[in-house]
Amino acid sequence: MRYGIFSDIHSNFEALSVVLDSLKDERIERYLCIGDIVGYCTNPSECIRMVKDLSPVVVAGNHDYGACAKLDLKYFVPHAKEALQWTQGVLAKSDVDFLAGLPLVHNEENFVLVHGSLGNPQEFYYLNNFEEADRTFSVLEKQVCFVGHTHRPGVFVEREGEIFHKAVGVLELEAHKRYIVNVGSVGQPRDGDSRACFVVYDTEAKTIELKRVEYNLKPTQEKILNAGLPKFLAMRLAQGK
Ligand SMILES: [Fe+2]
Repeated sequence: MRYGIFSDIHSNFEALSVVLDSLKDERIERYLCIGDIVGYCTNPSECIRMVKDLSPVVVAGNHDYGACAKLDLKYFVPHAKEALQWTQGVLAKSDVDFLAGLPLVHNEENFVLVHGSLGNPQEFYYLNNFEEADRTFSVLEKQVCFVGHTHRPGVFVEREGEIFHKAVGVLELEAHKRYIVNVGSVGQPRDGDSRACFVVYDTEAKTIELKRVEYNLKPTQEKILNAGLPKFLAMRLAQGK
């Protein structure tokens, strides 16, 4: 099976369009979305529709729950909160219902999807360091856990209790190791690279490959500014942080 996996779209229509175009060339059989379809940029309904059209498995991100009022906006920093309030004003009832119905965790035979981290997925803790990776490995019952949330791609590898971190690149899975794979962000990368991110997971070849693709971010930036959202949200797209 070949899976196309992506996360943290954040209503960025231009980035999602380019990612989905690229995935068309990857012989993908199933799509997996690790949450935060909405927030920050200005095309939430369009992005929800494009994701739904893939018939994917989707888990909830904190911004998805914030937009449908399942998570209090007090948990968000001011610029995120402002974008979520704007988003709430433009979402259709069907979009709100879709976001509210998303589960926090999805399990498959050999892997699990969660936006932040396992253990207390409803808390949306960031998985940024070895201690946090260890907490997720301690409750991980599958070989691979795919996460998003930090907008920084990378992988924690565990072997006999030892954990190390590496860039994803092309990862060849080994039977005696377990993996937490952060698939990065489609719509607002924060690793210093403005290109959109996604992952192709091939269960036959036992490989996980991180892909980057450039998109035209000018229209996305203009729409953010025209909507009256913080300038910072437009500027950060070009910086990839
Ligand atoms: Fe996010």
